[in-house]
Amino acid sequence: MRFSLMATYVAVILIAITLLSVYILGVLTESFYSTEKVKLFAKANIVSGLLADTETITDEMKENIAKTLYGSNMRCIVTDRDLRAVFDSNNDSDIVGKIVIREAINKCIAKGEETYVKSQGVNEINMLSVAVPIMSQVRTAGAVYIAESIASADAAVGDIRRNLIIFAIITSVLIAMLSLALSFMTTAPIDNFIAVSKEISKGNFNVKAKEKGTSELVEMAKALNYMSQELEDFEQNRKKFVSDVSHELKTPLATIKLICDSIVTTENPEPHMVQDFLGDLSEEVDRLTRLVERLLTLTKMDANQTVKSAAPVDFTVMLKAVLRKLAPNAHAKNIMLYDDLKDATLEPVMLDYDKIWEAVYNVTDNAIKYTPEGGFIRMGLGIKNQMIVVTVEDNGPGIPDSEKEHIFDRFYRLDDSRARDTGGTGLGLAIAKEAVMLHGGEISVKDAKNGGSVFTITIPYIRESAENA
Ligand SMILES: Nc1ncnc2c1ncn2[C@@H]1O[C@H](COP(=O)(O)OP(=O)(O)OP(=O)(O)O)[C@@H](O)[C@H]1O
Ligand SMILES: [Mg+2]
Repeated sequence: MRFSLMATYVAVILIAITLLSVYILGVLTESFYSTEKVKLFAKANIVSGLLADTETITDEMKENIAKTLYGSNMRCIVTDRDLRAVFDSNNDSDIVGKIVIREAINKCIAKGEETYVKSQGVNEINMLSVAVPIMSQVRTAGAVYIAESIASADAAVGDIRRNLIIFAIITSVLIAMLSLALSFMTTAPIDNFIAVSKEISKGNFNVKAKEKGTSELVEMAKALNYMSQELEDFEQNRKKFVSDVSHELKTPLATIKLICDSIVTTENPEPHMVQDFLGDLSEEVDRLTRLVERLLTLTKMDANQTVKSAAPVDFTVMLKAVLRKLAPNAHAKNIMLYDDLKDATLEPVMLDYDKIWEAVYNVTDNAIKYTPEGGFIRMGLGIKNQMIVVTVEDNGPGIPDSEKEHIFDRFYRLDDSRARDTGGTGLGLAIAKEAVMLHGGEISVKDAKNGGSVFTITIPYIRESAENA
């Protein structure tokens, strides 16, 4: 990845520099040539002007031509209309008196107008030549031909080309080094993320992504570390849950085994003794069944993270049904069950009836279970900040502050062995919490004024009408 990034940067820069160089060189060459062309035509026109309407070229004229060309490398040939040379600025040449074959001159005489030709001379040196007609009484009497080598211009362009190539190479090397450093800076954290992700997938949550670099990379590292922490917590909870379940199953199973062994090892057991043992056995099986049922309820709630089967529920009717169902338990302990439900008139609420029933039932069941004989329990209902608030108050033993945050944990019981003896699984409040949270609500406990506890369940007041709107 690192090198492909670098190669991309270098390729882009090289293409850009090449295109720019080709353009610059093109413009420069064109400008050199057109300047030369203008110069050549200017000289040729001066010479042509000198020779206009003359029969022969005098020495004075030759001197003037020489003056015109002075300081330049231009060669000037003057021909008559039959293409015969009558003057040549090159003294070493014996062209005077002979027919001159030059493309520019031919065209100029034939058409009677200025011509311009770019050609290649000896040693492949580029030449620019122009020919201008000499006018005599409005007819073409001959032509002035001026040519110049543009080797120096070509050399200058060549120099620029070379410099541009060197510039392109240096720039590419610099860009390559820079992009390598840059890509290292961007890919190093990504390599780190990949390595950390691999470790996490192997179950090693100790490795953490380095939270440094640009703000986006820091955010990514934080998200990865957060995910790793969540997975670690999840894994720890899973392990704890499995070990708790095993532990909870072990006790009733050990008791069942003990009872069975007692029956098996007793010779000719009395029928009433066998009946007692079988009664105990049945109780243990009931306890096991209850535990398994509660576990199933919990795992079902874990699987559904949202409420799937919400339906309109008359909340007051539901609470009364819970109280009716638990009335025999309260009656058996001589506990008074009050309700303050009449004041709150609620429209039907959208919720999963079974789950919220379970939550309210477990809390009320606890209140009856843990309140001594002759106590009382009061259930209240109200609406606050668009939330339905259900309270269940008892005058039982209360819950110490240090335990309040734990009682909603799975398998947590205040007096563990006694609670287990009374058949408590320690899952009732955990189920209630899951059910309430699934609805976007909350469950909490506080001390009641009378020394008992007040459990409060709040659930969003989502009316059927609002749901359908
Ligand atoms: N109203 C209450 N007063 C005093 N202690 C309570 C009250 N409600 C709950 N507790 C304590 O909280 C613990 C957890 O309650 P939870 O309902 O989760 O389990 P459980 O009642 O023991 O078992 P299960 O609900 O399966 O019968 C109980 O064991 C009990 O010690
Ligand atoms: Mg309970």
